[in-house]
Amino acid sequence: MSSDVIQFLQQRRSVVTKKMLPVAPTDSDLEQIISCGLRVPDHSNVQPWKLIVIKDDARKKFDEEVILKAAEASSSETLSDTVKQLESQRMQRSGVVIAVLCSFVIPHKIPVWEQQLSAGAVCSHLLIAAQSLDYAAQWITEWPAYNPDVISALGGDPTSDRIAGFIHIGKKQSQPDERKRPIHDEKVSYWQQS
Ligand SMILES: Cc1cc2nc3c(=O)[nH]c(=O)nc-3n(C[C@H](O)[C@H](O)[C@H](O)COP(=O)(O)O)c2cc1C
Repeated sequence: MSSDVIQFLQQRRSVVTKKMLPVAPTDSDLEQIISCGLRVPDHSNVQPWKLIVIKDDARKKFDEEVILKAAEASSSETLSDTVKQLESQRMQRSGVVIAVLCSFVIPHKIPVWEQQLSAGAVCSHLLIAAQSLDYAAQWITEWPAYNPDVISALGGDPTSDRIAGFIHIGKKQSQPDERKRPIHDEKVSYWQQS
């Protein structure tokens, strides 16, 4: 079992949204993925994150009523048809999107940095869990993650909350190619006392 996990982690690969089919995971797989996302290291059990699942018809609604409107509101010019098309399809590129909203607990003995790291761990776990079930998955932020109207629409406070990521999950069309990976010796060293 453990060698299977190691092998999976050494080979797993994200599939970019433009290469995935917008097919949702089964409900039971989605619940398994979510349960893995909630089971993360979290110093002092602060739980500074919330998961908002955008699936089925809610994807189109979110695209048209939240993302497109936010794009229009933040642009000084009228959006071209091409841009409108792009902005009204973002969530529909995949079968389901899990937004990870980070609501920091301040003041708290656990620094905000550690709360942010825990939110990142939620995203990683969701991604890895989806990939382990052979779904196409990608962690995306793009401009909506930084837009106050989008944060509000997800139930967050744009003055203090952050979106750690949108985890897109869909169906693979083909196996992804490997990408450039870090060179081990440039990143890893063993400390020795001088
Ligand atoms: C916090 C974060 C935000 C990201 N946002 C985007 C994004 O907006 N658009 C994008 O194409 N890739 C984004 N990526 C990169 C991809 O999700 C992914 O890391 C890359 O495709 C390689 O993934 P892999 O190493 O899992 O194969 C982001 C990654 C992280 C960690």
